[in-house]
Amino acid sequence: MKINSSEYAVSAVREDQYPKDDLPEIALAGRSNVGKSSLINTLVNRKNLARTSSQPGKTQTLNFYLVNKSFYLVDVPGYGYAKVSQKKRQEFGEMIQDYLETRANLKGLIILVDSRHVPSKDDQSMYEYAQYLNLPILVVCTKIDKLKKSQLTKVKANLKKVFDLSYDNVSVLTFSSVTKTHVTELGDWIQEKIAE
Ligand code: GTP
Ligand code: MG
Repeated sequence: MKINSSEYAVSAVREDQYPKDDLPEIALAGRSNVGKSSLINTLVNRKNLARTSSQPGKTQTLNFYLVNKSFYLVDVPGYGYAKVSQKKRQEFGEMIQDYLETRANLKGLIILVDSRHVPSKDDQSMYEYAQYLNLPILVVCTKIDKLKKSQLTKVKANLKKVFDLSYDNVSVLTFSSVTKTHVTELGDWIQEKIAE
């Protein structure tokens, strides 16, 4: 996918704040600090369009980024961050659930997992939830620049311990926002889903 333009559009915590122009949307989900906001920046080739941080819990609202004036990437607060209060976590959970369950414009979900680890219980719940909602899923194993060559072969095996990859409509990519590995394939997947 060729990126011609990208811009921050709007942040939302509830439905009446979502964009109203009826364009397709692709959302990102994953643990805090896994690299969701970084993936957006890498895809659109901007350093700081989506705010990133080495501190988990940076993204706290649904942030809509308009790309090529034709679709939105939706940055979503991460889960599994212990320092976020119970109350906030519940609010995030409900906000994400409302969005994923009701948004007709949503054409696919990118679930990011850290390629160095076996996916967590929360990752598994998100994966099964997306299946239940019948969303096309792209599993992105992030930060592969941090892996030694010998560890690379284990990434898929680690995934399979927790994710049933035989479901329909699931693709898997390894990825790095540092080396931009597989950014072309990421764009291709998005292109395909927003066209469906
Ligand atoms: P929340 O907003 O808290 O949910 O986090 P996030 O998933 O948006 O993570 P973010 O993109 O802010 O990245 C978290 C940290 O990981 C930052 O310090 C990034 O620089 C770093 N990071 C992200 N992607 C990569 C990657 O592919 N490789 C390496 N080495 N670091 C990365
Ligand atoms: Mg973020």
